Formats: sequence, structure tokens, C-alpha cells
Amino acid sequence: MPMVSPFPVAVAIMLLAAVSAPRHASALTRHDFPEGFVLGAGTSAYQVEGAAAEDGRKPSIWDTFTHQGHSSDGSTGDVSADQYHLYKEDVKLMHKMGLDAYRFSISWPRLIPDGRRQINPKGLEYYNNLIDELILYGIQPHVTIYHFDLPQVLQDEYGGLLSPRFIEDYTAYANVCFKSFGDRVKHWVTVNEPNIEPIGGYDNGSQPPRRCSYPFGADCAGGNSSTEPYIAAHHLLLAHASAVSLYREKYKAAQGGQIGITLLGWWHEPASNTTQDAAAAMRMNDFHIGWFMHPLVYGDYPPVMRSRVGGRLPALPAPESGKVRGSFDFIGFNHYLIMRVRSIDTSSGQEPRDYYVDAAVQNPAADITTGKVETAPWSLRKLLEHLKLNYGNPPVWIHENGYADAPSKDDDDEDRTEFLQDYLETLYLSIRNGSNARGYFVWSFLDVFEFLFGYRLRFGLCGVDMGDAARTRYLRSSARWYSGFLAGGELRPAARPHKSYVR
Ligand SMILES: *[C@@H]1O[C@H](CO)[C@@H](O)[C@H](O)[C@H]1NC(C)=O
Ligand SMILES: *[C@@H]1O[C@H](CO)[C@@H](O)[C@H](O)[C@H]1NC(C)=O
Ligand SMILES: *[C@@H]1O[C@H](CO)[C@@H](O)[C@H](O)[C@H]1NC(C)=O
Ligand SMILES: *[C@@H]1O[C@H](CO)[C@@H](O)[C@H](O)[C@H]1NC(C)=O
Repeated sequence: MPMVSPFPVAVAIMLLAAVSAPRHASALTRHDFPEGFVLGAGTSAYQVEGAAAEDGRKPSIWDTFTHQGHSSDGSTGDVSADQYHLYKEDVKLMHKMGLDAYRFSISWPRLIPDGRRQINPKGLEYYNNLIDELILYGIQPHVTIYHFDLPQVLQDEYGGLLSPRFIEDYTAYANVCFKSFGDRVKHWVTVNEPNIEPIGGYDNGSQPPRRCSYPFGADCAGGNSSTEPYIAAHHLLLAHASAVSLYREKYKAAQGGQIGITLLGWWHEPASNTTQDAAAAMRMNDFHIGWFMHPLVYGDYPPVMRSRVGGRLPALPAPESGKVRGSFDFIGFNHYLIMRVRSIDTSSGQEPRDYYVDAAVQNPAADITTGKVETAPWSLRKLLEHLKLNYGNPPVWIHENGYADAPSKDDDDEDRTEFLQDYLETLYLSIRNGSNARGYFVWSFLDVFEFLFGYRLRFGLCGVDMGDAARTRYLRSSARWYSGFLAGGELRPAARPHKSYVR
């Protein structure tokens, strides 16, 4: 028999110490998760705050985009759930539900309306109030510094993410956040989903700032889909690393917080059992997840991106490479869906999309624009397993996971409850199998303006009556279930006949 390294044994013992004896998954409670595991819910600034033109806030690229009528239902975040005015009520609601933590983002154009220099005192006051209110009720603030809402002025002045000047302005903005709020905020996310913002904004141009080139997107005023997504992502990566260096050098010792980055975690699965499709799915995972994970862990973009994108992929020389490598205390993932990938035989004459290099995504009957997507909890297990095997099993936070349905005043959303139960069960089983997950946030705490769907689809545990000027909140049955689970109740308190939540 070969010698067995003592390492797996040590890991197994640590796991047993951290997690209590295995239980029948349906009878799980939060106490079966590791000590200190955090359960919360989230939103983001543009999506939830409203008060778009109040108290000195200036437009972000999302205000411009929605005001030009480009959101999927023509709506805007001008008022949305109006959390800017209703934050006290919302924190009480979080407390009533028993959330450990609230994930939200700071609006750059509210805190620093011109993108740099002058701080808006009203913006500073708002975030101080929100954070203080959360702390008062014992709810941890988990704060994202940049969640898509770039000040429009920086887009106009130098092309936003396309210019290296973005890195400097972003770092100065992050500095204001650490300095002003870091005494109370112990969990920082530098950037939300830097692996999709460049695709929506610069590849097919369906999202702000609407840049693309033929044939990768239509209807754009300018852009180059073959080069700009890589440049925008590169600047987001360097901006992230710059903020982490700053935090570690100037703030971490005194403030004692953790800092990381949150990626979109689509899971790419082969559409068939052919080796070509398996390879195509792996390439897609490298282009989607590896785009950031590889530099963060190994200091350069994935080899498959280097070989396929060639000179269009920016170089990452020392010292940048050294600054990027290891620039995280944790990685956040927003996990929703499965993409089925089929290899494209490029000799067949089909146009290979630049991002989807020699691969096509095709989920039968799925259409992301209508929210008809393929989901299954096993994809979360695969994602976590992928991180464990390829990226050294970093501490992971599931920062978003949730279920969309059409708005209704009916508070019965049993499907949402069942969806969340299944993912929490999978998360538990992944942790037992060695995944380093530290927390889980439902998307979303409340109904909000959705970047992809406007108000056509809602994800909220709590509903918001968007037709009512008072923006009345109400608990859905999923919020009542989550509340019971947070209080120590069983994951599936009442066994029901299984009803599929796949639409
Ligand atoms: C961009 O991609 C989305 C998702 O596939 C699609 O619905 C949309 O029509 C595309 N937009 C453009 C401008 O090509
Ligand atoms: C995009 O940039 C590349 C590299 O500079 C260039 O070869 C290509 O022609 C450009 N495409 C468009 C549509 O401008
Ligand atoms: C791949 O093969 C397995 C085992 O034969 C089968 O269960 C599965 O459905 C196949 N998957 C696809 C996508 O064809
Ligand atoms: C558990 O972890 C091992 C080692 O990483 C892996 O081979 C196995 O597939 C995992 N099992 C599940 C159910 O994820």
C-alpha cells in the first residue's frame, strides 16, 4: 500500500471538530454549519436606494442607461425600494427576521458625486447612519465598494474602465470608505462581478456603458468587442489589487477587517458527454471564473486565455503580478445558474464569439432575458469543488443566490423557499466535504430594481409594493421560513411533497 500523507487525515480531523456529526440533511439546522457561519441577505445601492437625484447624488452610468430607456422594461432605479428614506424600517425588518448580516454597496456617485476629490457630506451621513443602525441591532455590515454604478462623469471624462486613471480614482474612493466606515465595517468587497461587467458593457453592449462592435453586439455608439472587455477587466483587477494593498498597508492592523472580491459564478457544464464539449465547458469556466481566479491565485491570466486571446489580453508583468497574486482574504461568489456548453467546430463557418471562444452556450428552453434559466443545486457543489481543486480552496462567501418570480401581492412563495433550502443543503454537504465556505447571503433581502429584469421579476424575501408611493414592505412566506431557520429551526420544518421549482 502506498504511504498515505498525514495531510488528509489532519484535514478530516479539523473538519470533524468544526462540523458536528452528519445529520439527515432535511433535519439540518444552522447549528450544523461551522461555528461563526454567517447567514444574511443582500441588495446593492443603485438597485435599492432610490433618491437618485437627492442630497447631492449625481448620475452613475446606470442612471444614464435607464434614463435613455435601455433597461429591459424601460424602468429606472430613481425610487425603487426607496431604502435611502426607509433604511430604519428596513433594519428593523432585518432584525425581526434575525439576519446575521446585511450585504449592501456604497454608491460612489452619492459619496463622491464628481468621482474624485470632494466628499458629499449628505452621502457620508447616510452611510454612517445605515451602518450605525445595523450595528445597533447587532447586524454585521458586509460592504461592497463598487457594484456597477460608476460615476457618469468618469465615463465622460476618460472612458471609465477603459482608462488606467480608473485605478487611481477607484483607490482614492476606496480610501474614503476605509477611513470613514472601517471602524465598524469588517467585511469589504472591492468589486462586484468584475467578470461580467466587461461582457455586458463592452462585449455585447447590452448593459452600460453600451459599447460593442459588429458582429458581437448591435446598436452601440462605439467600442471594440475584441479588445475592450479585456482592458476593462484588467483595470478592475488592478483597481481591486490596489485597494487591497492600501487596506493592508494602512487600515487592516488597526481595523482588523477582511477584504476580498466577488465574482459571478455561472457554472459551465458540457451539453453532451463528448470530450469536445467537456473541453469547451472547461474553457468557458476558465474564461469566466479563471479570468480573475487565476491571476488572484497564480499571478497571471489562465494559459488558455493567453493562448487564445493572444496580444489582445493585457500583459501582467511584475510588479503588478505580485500585487494581484494573493490580494484577497476571501472570494465571494454570486451563484445562480448552469450554462450548457457545446463545442463549436469553427470550420463550420459559425462565427465564434470572442468571449465564448469556440464554444456556444445553449440551454434548451432557457432564455436569460425572461429569467427562464437552468438551475440545480449540484452546480453549487461543482463550483465549490472547482475552487477547492484548482485554486487552493480559498475562504468563500456565497454573496448571492436566489430565486426570481413575477411580482404578485400574494406572499406565498413556496418555490423560493424550496429553492433556498436545496442550495443551503448542498452548501452544507460541500462544507462537510471540505469546502471552505464561510457564509451565505440570499439575493435579495427586498424586491429591488433588477439589472437584467427591471421590475418584471422579483427576488425578494420581502416584497415591496412598487405601485404604492409608500413602498410598503411585506414578508413573503420565504422570509418567514428563513427567519425560522436563522432562529435555529430545521431547514425543512414541514415535509411537503416535493414540488419542482424549475420553471
Ligand atoms: C446581449 O446578450 C444578451 C444575452 O444573451 C441578449 O439577450 C441581448 O440581446 C444581447 N444584446 C445585444 C445588443 O446583442
Ligand atoms: C479592435 O482592435 C483590434 C486591435 O487593435 C483591431 O485589430 C480591430 O480591427 C478593432 N476592431 C474594431 C471593430 O474596431
Ligand atoms: C452523460 O452520461 C451519463 C452516464 O451515462 C448520463 O447519465 C448523462 O445523462 C449524460 N449526459 C449528457 C449531457 O448526455
Ligand atoms: C468530495 O471531495 C473530493 C476531494 O476533493 C472529491 O473528489 C469529491 O468529488 C467530492 N464529493 C462531492 C460530493 O463533492
